[in-house]
Amino acid sequence: MSDKLMFFDTTLRDGEQVPGCQLNTVEKIQVAKALEALGVDVIEAGFPVSSPGDFNSVIEISKAVTWPTICALTRAVEKDIDVAADALRYARHKRIHTGIGTSDSHIKYKFNSNREEIIERAVAAVKYARRYVDDVEFYAEDAGRTDNEYLARVVEAVIRAGATVVNIPDTTGYCLPAEYGAKIKYLFDHVDGIDKAIISTHCHNDLGMATANTMSGVAAGARQVEVTINGIGERAGNTALEEVAMIIRCHKDIDIDCNINTQKIYSTSRLVSSLMNMPVQPNKAIVGKNAFAHSSGIHQDGVLKNVQTYEIINPQDVGIDDNSIVLTARSGRAALKNRLNVLGVKFTPEQLDKVYADFLKLADKKKDINDDDILLLAGADRTASHRVRLEYLQVTSGVGIRSVASIGLNISGEKFEAAASGNGPVDAAINALKRIIERKMTIKEFTIQAISKGSDDVGKVHMQVEYNGHIYYGFGANTDIVAASVEAYIDCINKFKL
Ligand code: KIV
Ligand code: ZN
Repeated sequence: MSDKLMFFDTTLRDGEQVPGCQLNTVEKIQVAKALEALGVDVIEAGFPVSSPGDFNSVIEISKAVTWPTICALTRAVEKDIDVAADALRYARHKRIHTGIGTSDSHIKYKFNSNREEIIERAVAAVKYARRYVDDVEFYAEDAGRTDNEYLARVVEAVIRAGATVVNIPDTTGYCLPAEYGAKIKYLFDHVDGIDKAIISTHCHNDLGMATANTMSGVAAGARQVEVTINGIGERAGNTALEEVAMIIRCHKDIDIDCNINTQKIYSTSRLVSSLMNMPVQPNKAIVGKNAFAHSSGIHQDGVLKNVQTYEIINPQDVGIDDNSIVLTARSGRAALKNRLNVLGVKFTPEQLDKVYADFLKLADKKKDINDDDILLLAGADRTASHRVRLEYLQVTSGVGIRSVASIGLNISGEKFEAAASGNGPVDAAINALKRIIERKMTIKEFTIQAISKGSDDVGKVHMQVEYNGHIYYGFGANTDIVAASVEAYIDCINKFKL
């Protein structure tokens, strides 16, 4: 019988730590349910002591999902562990993930400590967590740069203290695949009692080797992989779930099994990208827009003769249905509902009515509505509870004239209007907005991106605004890019800590 590889998804913890990717609790539940349907074994739902929002999300996710183990992150600190245990109270299967830095640089600069003291703190944290739960995972932060001999002592000590899973993170994404695999093998060869725990990989992608390192760890005996959807995560991200799942599916020679339903990969990828406003790069393996597009004549000719000439994965195996219906202004509510279902989004009839009305408005402006547009519409409702909302915007601009904008805002139910000029339409619109909201705020970053192609496409705007020493991330989407820019600015303002 093949060995089983456990998938530990940290999209909602390591992935959600990325600036601009923050989700509210309702959105996190949506992602957690999609991960459950995808077949992940463990969902890392958050770092409860870090904020009331994270604490609440772990509680609500624990209530919302049934099969996966719900995991909460802590430092090797009793207070963190108390709070994590409390947040996990409704989880059917619960795990506390505690740990401490073990590399010399972490020990010296982060903890001003020494190797022996770190082992004591690690053991104490695991024992303390075991008072609450039977399933305790220990992480040796920066294990990638930790001396193997010392790492083996740490791992042996925490397993003896009751750790059921031991995570060997390449926190900085530094290791080479052979080096990381050798590290895992070293542990199997030198740690007494290693068979009592599952060894887990957690690889970051700073040098583009996260998936290669993960697979090298699996070849050396690791039986849990820590991954995120679309590979999102701190800095250059984490190992992508979809890549590991498809590697073990394509390489039968690896002879390992998992619970992932690969046909749910594409819809989960789209859902996470859309909710987090985090575009997937077009050439991203498995889920990028071009992952299955054959453009050169030679390739197209080969694929037409026999698809196996240039394709190692059947797109349908990851849930990409080529026959997806293109929705237009004539599509009915049922077609929209069906497409939303395929994309993993479920709505009440009332919510569907609202999205359908928005869909018809967009279809009036844009001929073909694609999946990205639909996911944007599905998310648009998120602004409904915003304090500041855009009522109208009118801009005059052109060559040889100064742009002029007038704007109407609804702030907590009260209407405000202003007009201003600027060196372009966006500048004029933002200047008008600043006449209503008189605060010292500065745009730090501003990117406009078209979703696919065509002059009728929806433009997406990501913006960073600095206010009161903090950076706020905003997003807007509209067929009018000036309106999308103002929406992104208003999105930032709605997030200001006042
Ligand atoms: O990269 C890392 O070391 C982590 C740990 C907190 C598990 O994310
Ligand atoms: Zn990490």
